[in-house]
Amino acid sequence: MTDYTVEFVGTGEEITVSEKETILSRCIEEGIAQEYSCRVGMCLACSAEIVDGEVTQPAARGLTERERENFALTCMARPASDLRLDRGKYPPSIEADAAVGDDAAAADD
Ligand code: FES
Repeated sequence: MTDYTVEFVGTGEEITVSEKETILSRCIEEGIAQEYSCRVGMCLACSAEIVDGEVTQPAARGLTERERENFALTCMARPASDLRLDRGKYPPSIEADAAVGDDAAAADD
């Protein structure tokens, strides 16, 4: 089992995460204030921008294929290298989801 270093840019926080565990589960264990909600790769609340490094996240269904290159859903993502992540950065599709929600709310009026 390989362990990787995950650094959160701008916070000074750094944790060690094995290739077998999700970044979010390790954050919770280490007391890192990573936001999350669904924990099944759908809501995007746990998103972080990948500044440097690679993750595996085949079950990150909330991300488009292109977004998977630049964003990690930490509830699903496992490190595939040492990483630098920027927490609280969200992919463009989160805006599209919000717009759909706005339309649905307007239709209910
Ligand atoms: S907590 Fe919802 S996508 Fe990760």
